[in-house]
Amino acid sequence: MRAATLLDAPGALQILELTVDEPRRHEVLIRTVAAGLCHSDYHVMEGRIARPLPTVLGHESAGVVEAIGPDVTSVRVGDHVVCCLSVFCGSCRRCLSGQNWLCDDKAATGRRPDEPPRLSLDGRRVHPFSHVGGFAEYMLVHENATVAVPASLPFDRAALLGCGVITGVGAALNAARVQPGSSAVVVGCGGVGLNVVQGCVLAGAARVVAVDSVAAKLELARAFGATHVVDASAGDPVPPVRDITGGGADYAFEAIGLKSTVEAAFAMLRRGGTAYVIGVLPEGTRIELDGADFLASKGIHGVYMGSNHFKVDLPTYIEWYLQGRLHLDELVSAHLPLEHINEGYAVLARGEVARSVILFDH
Ligand SMILES: NC(=O)c1ccc[n+]([C@@H]2O[C@H](COP(=O)([O-])OP(=O)(O)OC[C@H]3O[C@@H](n4cnc5c(N)ncnc54)[C@H](O)[C@@H]3O)[C@@H](O)[C@H]2O)c1
Ligand SMILES: [Zn+2]
Ligand SMILES: [Zn+2]
Repeated sequence: MRAATLLDAPGALQILELTVDEPRRHEVLIRTVAAGLCHSDYHVMEGRIARPLPTVLGHESAGVVEAIGPDVTSVRVGDHVVCCLSVFCGSCRRCLSGQNWLCDDKAATGRRPDEPPRLSLDGRRVHPFSHVGGFAEYMLVHENATVAVPASLPFDRAALLGCGVITGVGAALNAARVQPGSSAVVVGCGGVGLNVVQGCVLAGAARVVAVDSVAAKLELARAFGATHVVDASAGDPVPPVRDITGGGADYAFEAIGLKSTVEAAFAMLRRGGTAYVIGVLPEGTRIELDGADFLASKGIHGVYMGSNHFKVDLPTYIEWYLQGRLHLDELVSAHLPLEHINEGYAVLARGEVARSVILFDH
């Protein structure tokens, strides 16, 4: 099968012919139909975050179940499914205390060292990024990395649920538990940030301020329900955000992954407010905060994958979409064939799209 593979980092993706194994035990073989281009894959291509190589990137994909291992109970052949990298073992302390997205033993959902790898290139092991490997014609994943979705849901919209939507909406609803009537600011309005905006709107926030350095993103943010926008290319966004929120926001979300914007998000808070860092920062990044702000009861939190229970959350989000309460159509900026994936990432790096989506032609 063809897969967009990263052999060296930094580096570009190469479309290579890989071998995918048959499903064993709890594994599901999925024919990939659509895959979203998330910035996290790009961080790996840039070498900003290190992952074992070679790897098949992609972790925001949807497709059709082609075959299942003998122990699979949650999906059937022919089901339409969305993959989520929040694969969970179901038996570690985190999983058993209801924090599946922080599972401590994801390795238990993978292959044992004595088994052949799921993916290989001329006999050499290839790592599926984040236990998914979504930029490939087939994905071989544990059943706890998938959820069945209605066949009526278009695959390009479905794919985005698995990362951008669940990360953004989940940050507002699950992690921050945004309160009705509150004020929130979202710094960075790409595929993830736009979903934080709509998560805050769904939660009933009174003011939702969108900050981005690309004017088209601010327009999109308004379509997702932002009540105010601040163009970061026009100067320091902190004073205008503090103005709009009457002295600082209750919640600030950083969805870019830069030291400067994390620090800016914290500076946008009112007394007692909390900043949520969604953007991925390279290891070793040091964040500088003013110590006096802790007396003002300000807080800062990392958020991983929107603190999701994707098998419960995604069906809810799909209902909201079908009822017209959750935006998915507006997230899809472009469709690309797999061969154009590097061009797709160049466009993402310039901040020009909400999401580009690869459509596979099998
Ligand atoms: N924590 C998690 O679980 C999780 C999950 C998914 C993605 N992420 C991370 O979230 C971040 C965002 O991902 P994405 O796919 O939405 O990326 P994206 O490239 O689609 O969006 C980034 C946005 O930030 C804007 N931007 C860039 N620099 C800016 C600046 N200095 N000031 C204001 N705006 C600026 C860009 O114009 C763009 O709209 C990435 O770091 C990604 O790795 C984290
Ligand atoms: Zn992602
Ligand atoms: Zn676990």
